[in-house]
Formats: sequence, C-alpha cells, structure tokens
Amino acid sequence: MEFHVSLAGRRDLSGQIYRQMKQAILLGTLREGDRLPSTRDLARGLIVSRAIVTTAYDRLAAEGLVTSRVGAGAFVGGHLSARASRQKDRPKPGALEPQAVWSSIKIPRVFDPRTQFDFRTGSPDASLFPYRAWRRLLADQMRVEAEDGSIYSHPAGLPALQQAIARHIAISRGVQTSPEDIVITNGTQQALDVIARAVLAPKDRVAVEDPGYPPPRALFRSLGLTVQPIGLDREGLLVGALPPSTRLVYVTPSHHYPLGMSMSLERRLALLEWAEENNAAIIEDDYDSEFRFAGRPIEPLQTLDSTGRVIYVGSFSKTLLPRLRLGFVVTPPSLRDAMQKAKYVSDWYTSTAFQGALAAFIDSGMFVRHIGKMRSVYEKRNALIRRLIARDFSEELEVLPSRAGLHITALAKTASYERIDAVIRQAGQLGIVVHNLAATSDKRIAPGIMLGYGAIATGRIEEALSRLRRCFDYAATPPGAALEKAAGGRY
Ligand SMILES: Cc1ncc(COP(=O)(O)O)c(C=O)c1O
Repeated sequence: MEFHVSLAGRRDLSGQIYRQMKQAILLGTLREGDRLPSTRDLARGLIVSRAIVTTAYDRLAAEGLVTSRVGAGAFVGGHLSARASRQKDRPKPGALEPQAVWSSIKIPRVFDPRTQFDFRTGSPDASLFPYRAWRRLLADQMRVEAEDGSIYSHPAGLPALQQAIARHIAISRGVQTSPEDIVITNGTQQALDVIARAVLAPKDRVAVEDPGYPPPRALFRSLGLTVQPIGLDREGLLVGALPPSTRLVYVTPSHHYPLGMSMSLERRLALLEWAEENNAAIIEDDYDSEFRFAGRPIEPLQTLDSTGRVIYVGSFSKTLLPRLRLGFVVTPPSLRDAMQKAKYVSDWYTSTAFQGALAAFIDSGMFVRHIGKMRSVYEKRNALIRRLIARDFSEELEVLPSRAGLHITALAKTASYERIDAVIRQAGQLGIVVHNLAATSDKRIAPGIMLGYGAIATGRIEEALSRLRRCFDYAATPPGAALEKAAGGRY
C-alpha cells in the first residue's frame, strides 16, 4: 500500500519513518493485517537508502507492531488491536472552540430504516419510487457527462432543468416565471441558505412560523440572523404580530408545517401588503402542495405578488426522494444575479448528473405520473389514519383539519406534555416512530403528536395505531403532572 511519510532534514531518517508508522498503527490508521510498502519501494519514493527503511521496519518488528513473512512482505502485527483502540479512544486536546450557536443546534435523528412502524414526518414512500427508470435516466446522463464532464457548470443549474421546472410549476401551481429566474439547489435547506445570503445582512430579523419547521430556524441562527418566532391562528401567520424591523418572513402557506392549515386568501393579501409597507421579503416554501386531497388550491403568494417580494421555493424531497437533495428557488428578477452568486459561493452548483436525470424525468411525463400515483396512495393513508383516530382515540386526540401533504397532526385532548412524552417513548419500545409536536417550537405549545404516512405501508397503519393505542392506555403519567393543555391552544 501507499503510505505517506514526510521526512524533514537529513537527521535520524530511520527514526522519522519508525515514529510515523508507529503512530499510524497505534491510531488505527494502519490496521491489523495491512501490508506495508516494500522497503525497496518506500526507499525509492523517499529517496533514501534501503538500509534506512529496513532499520525502521526492524524497530517496528522488535516492538511487535509489524510482522514479516518471507516473500510476502511486512504486515501490521496482529496482537495490537486492543492497544491501538485504547489509543484511538483517547481524546485529542482540541484547541479549537466552535461558535456558541452550534451548541443550540441539533442534527435530526437518522431513523433506523428497519423501524417496524414508521410515522416519521416528511418522508415519501421510497419503496414506490421508480428506481429502474431513474437509473436509466441517470445512466443516459452519465453518457452526456462523459463528453463535457470536466467543465464546471453554471450555478443557476442546467438550462434543461430550469425549463422543465418553469413549465411544470406554471402548469401545476400557476407560478409564472422565466426559466432564467430559477436557481437549482440542494433541496429547500440550501435554497433558504442561498436566499438569506442574497438578501440579508448579519443580525437582520427573520420571522418564522411558530410552531414551524425547525431546520430553517437553525440555519438562520447559524448565519447570525435574529430569528423572530410568530404565532398562527386558523388562517395562518399572525401578520399583525410581525415587528416592522423584520426583513424576511419564512412561511409555508400552502400547507403549514406542522399544523396543516393553508393560509387564507385574506391573510395572504395582508402579508403581501405588510411586506410592501415594511420593505421586506417573503419566502414561500411550497414543499408538498402536490399532495392535496380536497379543497380548492389557493393561489401561491408568488402569483398574488405584484411587487416582486416573494421568493418561491420548491423541493423534490417529497415528490421524489429527500436523498436526491434537489430543490429550486424562483427568484424575483431583481435578485437573480445575487442569488446565482450566492449559490456559487455556497457550493458552485448542484450535481449535473442528477439535474440532467431530473430534467428528463419531468419532460418525459414520468414526474407527473409519479405524483398522481403517490397522491392516491397518500390520500388513502390520510383517510385511514383519520378514520382510525376518530374511532379509537376519540378521548385522547383531536386531528387538526388538513387534507394534504404527508402528515397528520393531532392535539392531545387532555394529556400533558409529560404524558405525550411517555407515550412516544413507550411507542419507541414497541417499534413505532411518532414525532412530538413540541419539537416544532421553542415555546410550550399545545401537547400533540405528528403522524407522517409517507414511510409506512398502508397495510401496516392499522396495526401501528392499535399498538399506539396501547401506549396511551399504559403510558404512566408522572405523578403530579398537570393534565392540562399548556398555554396557547390558539389553533
Ligand atoms: C416545511 C418543509 N419544507 C421543506 C422540506 C424539505 O426540505 P429539503 O428540500 O431540504 O429536503 C420539508 C421536509 O420535511 C418540510 O417539512
């Protein structure tokens, strides 16, 4: 194997080789059984005499760190693993301190894919994804890449994908834009990063929905922005509560995360008017509006906006797969240049192989067909969960009205936070993943749970809910825990 040794000066060359190899063995970088470079090759590579290398290897062998087999070469010794792993576990002193903000940010748990009953929110059903078609399109795209793959691509994205998305959102959402105003990103999360870089200065105030989707808050905080949580009522964000100093408002108007309502037309117009009066920008996160099962769609803020203040963000994490990390920004023309530059300084551009495959997937009509198929699957799951909760949890849970998306939110009728916590913990022991509504706010909001139905097969929902029912029956309520709803309850 190649092993990098760096020699300084001309003194004790053999000792330098010995010490670097010994450290690599003790740290586990070189593992038991790894073959060391031959003395001849290493000597040649380092431009030293072979005797110098042989002396170093002899010292390692004398300490039992290396064994030699005639004709086969030198190998890292076998009886070292325990010692090496003890060394490895020893923490390095770590002179560098991270910025304070990182201690308040948590990386979301990666759930075990073998979870028996998975009500994780935000995940689509990966088992129904058309992998075969996608593999073919990706392979086609790799053939294109083979011709000009070494050329850096434009930060805005591949023109074919910009055009495909512009057409798709014009037809499906009535969002009118020119393809040049689309910037392809690695999902919504990077879209928000790019927008914040393009329009905000450090310490600027950004308003978020509370409760709301947690990752954007963490992002905005990490950028040194002032995050202002704003409450909601049945019509959506309480526009009257926005401080005039707010520069950017992040909303999910089509389908609020996590409560599920869509922002009323009156509230949309009020928000646009507020933004105009206060010279603010609005991010419209339209993350799952493709999955609407009832009711008329309300026009996106982007379409209602006549002053170019709305920045529309879309994602393929729900319609396709979150692992693709594909999303986009529809930028007002005045921000186009800054947005492309922000994407460039962030990570230059999104993987062109995936962009090309997605463009072909949309253009071929497969995307619309996939959405149609998934909509009917999710609609059935949504209806089934509602029915079962109404039948079996009528004393415990009240489902919030929402006929869209990939999750249902239910408020506890009487249970305290502590009891909901206990139920969720107990559910975990029975192989059920359920989200706590409390995780969507920094404040104490009404206790409740979220049930995502993207990742659970329709046929497993009934069994999962009957187990969850048992958790409500048996979860111990800690003594003294107040059986009352916390402050709020506005929604
Ligand atoms: C409100 C909201 N926006 C966006 C997303 C998707 O984010 P991304 O595109 O970064 O995967 C999610 C996923 O759960 C979400 O809940």
